[in-house]
Amino acid sequence: MPSTVTVERVPVELTLPLRSAVLRDGGPAGMPGDDDPATVHLAARTADGRIACVARLSPAPCPWRPEARAPWQLRGMATDPAVRGSGAGRALVRDGLARVAARGGDLVWCDARETAVGFYERMGFTVVAGPYDKPGIGRHRGMVTDLGGR
Ligand SMILES: CC(C)(COP(=O)(O)OP(=O)(O)OC[C@H]1O[C@@H](n2cnc3c(N)ncnc32)[C@H](O)[C@@H]1OP(=O)(O)O)[C@@H](O)C(=O)NCCC(=O)NCCS
Repeated sequence: MPSTVTVERVPVELTLPLRSAVLRDGGPAGMPGDDDPATVHLAARTADGRIACVARLSPAPCPWRPEARAPWQLRGMATDPAVRGSGAGRALVRDGLARVAARGGDLVWCDARETAVGFYERMGFTVVAGPYDKPGIGRHRGMVTDLGGR
């Protein structure tokens, strides 16, 4: 599937249904900063045009790398369970990291659910903190990837 997945910047509204279903058990899925003009909302679409994966990237200080010059946070990462494991998440993260690098970002970080740590490791992230609990969601680990050289 990877070659048939396309990634594009979309309005936040297009990301909310998948974010809600996958990450908020059907509940409200808005996050602070969603409407900030600097926030980049991304969707990966399959060949038939359906949204397979969503996430957002926004400039934000990294809790574990205060020296980072231009850190960005990856949040709200969710793939439709029907197409999980077929490359939509990889396509979206690759595209997102390239967009951040093009904007001068030097680091991307995330609060990774423990169940997703392996995915982020495959995408080049490293665990730098945790585990720590996020109330109502579960255990997380802090992960970062440096964009130097991209
Ligand atoms: C984590 C998630 C976003 C991954 O998306 P995806 O579209 O299934 O990922 P891909 O198909 O692009 O997978 C890329 C690689 O990571 C691996 N992978 C995917 N999910 C993984 C996981 N949870 N743990 C370990 N490896 C994983 C794939 O097997 C694939 O490996 P490969 O390099 O050997 O081919 C998706 O499983 C998801 O939405 N999970 C529930 C919500 C969630 O946890 N979001 C993250 C919150 S921090």
